[in-house]
Amino acid sequence: MAITGASGALYAMRTMAALLERDCHLELVVSDYGRRLLHDELGEAASVNRLREYLVETYGDVASRGTFTLLSNKDLGASIASGSHDCQAMVIVPCSMKTLAGVAHGLSRNLVERAADVMLKEKRRLVIVPREAPMSLPQLRNMVLCAEAGAMILPAMPAFYQQPRTINDLADFMAGKILSALGFEHELYPPWTGQVEPK
Ligand SMILES: Cc1cc2nc3c(=O)[nH]c(=O)nc-3n(C[C@H](O)[C@H](O)[C@H](O)COP(=O)(O)O)c2cc1C
Repeated sequence: MAITGASGALYAMRTMAALLERDCHLELVVSDYGRRLLHDELGEAASVNRLREYLVETYGDVASRGTFTLLSNKDLGASIASGSHDCQAMVIVPCSMKTLAGVAHGLSRNLVERAADVMLKEKRRLVIVPREAPMSLPQLRNMVLCAEAGAMILPAMPAFYQQPRTINDLADFMAGKILSALGFEHELYPPWTGQVEPK
């Protein structure tokens, strides 16, 4: 799991909590601007060195399941930099336009880009959650390049049919979409039944 410097730190935290709740092991990489985003959008409580505490405080004891290892974005020798490491899938949430460009062009300038490149070359699941508005033609083209290479582009675009009442409901929707993309069952949002369900 990678967290980069696009707006939407809450999506990352909700996704991380849901994966830990499912007893996953996560190799976590947070870019410098991802660290800034966590701090700017969620406050001191969500700083990188106390993520477990933040997740348990916010989402309850279920977030104390599972394990994660925080890897340096500068460490291109980390386990996930190699295809021989048995990493089943990767999500970049949120994904900045800069990281998107790096992945689209196979630059591998840091561990986030290299790990994503490994997912693509090994034909493993790579879920990219980009956020920008509006988008330039190069940014749109970069999404196409990633999709052509096998990544799933899952834009940070929460829906409203589930009648969200809080921003946590919107984060649940995005985390649910990501879990579905990674092959997990969940009840983070109600399935569409053909009509809006009254709350
Ligand atoms: C508060 C804040 C919000 C930002 N939001 C976005 C965003 O939504 N999308 C984006 O592509 N870049 C955004 N940026 C700019 C990126 O963080 C910047 O391009 C950075 O170099 C990305 O580096 P990274 O991909 O290594 O994290 C934001 C920056 C800051 C400080």
